Amino acid sequence: MKKLLCIGHRGAAGHAPENTLSSIEKALALGADWIESDVYAVEGKLVVIHDDRLEHTTDGSGYVLEQTLEYLRSLNAGNGEQIPFLSEVFDLVSKRAGINIELKGPGTATPTAALIREYIRHHDWQYDQLLVSSFNHHELHTIKQLLPDIRIGALTASIPLNYAAFAEDLGAYSINVSLSFINQEFVDDAHRRNLKVYVYTVNHPEDLLRMKSLGVDGVFTDYPEIVTGISID
Ligand code: G3P
Ligand code: MG
Repeated sequence: MKKLLCIGHRGAAGHAPENTLSSIEKALALGADWIESDVYAVEGKLVVIHDDRLEHTTDGSGYVLEQTLEYLRSLNAGNGEQIPFLSEVFDLVSKRAGINIELKGPGTATPTAALIREYIRHHDWQYDQLLVSSFNHHELHTIKQLLPDIRIGALTASIPLNYAAFAEDLGAYSINVSLSFINQEFVDDAHRRNLKVYVYTVNHPEDLLRMKSLGVDGVFTDYPEIVTGISID
């Protein structure tokens, strides 16, 4: 049976404050093959946070994009940790796992391409250690223009009429599909187009079994141990 890729969702969000460095460290300890991090661009720097507003995961308030970097970095993102920079995630993971960068905000493709180029040139990173995904397919198109060798994951929370055709048109490596919408037709169509299928967010063993029976290639999970079988205290 083929190996199911375990992608730690926002690190290991079931165990530590999401998208913090400790959440990522936890996902690595639990054996995740890949780490997923959501990013916005503020003052040209990429910050790792999921929501477009600050209230849910920090002690700050307002829209992420309307803040200064200094204010964002002054906040507590959980357990006294700062909102990380994407570069800090790169340095922490340091090739121990792949990194899936999910472009959340507008204008993220260009700084993300610059950071990836730096790590490939100066830190000997390989393109196959990275996957850039987004619900905003225009950002994906932009990064593919800037870095033709980058792998992109076309995110969707729908079942389009032409199934995975949109992802093939983008030159994607994978389709990253919501657990709420994935079905056998979608999986089979993507595979016929030579696309990987990654499903978010799979936190329950019964859903994991269903994903295995559909033949998907990987799952995003807040609890990597349900896939890896590795548990730590
Ligand atoms: O990339 C998979 C998943 O993270 C997409 O949804 O809202 O959790 O970023 P969301
Ligand atoms: Mg995400």
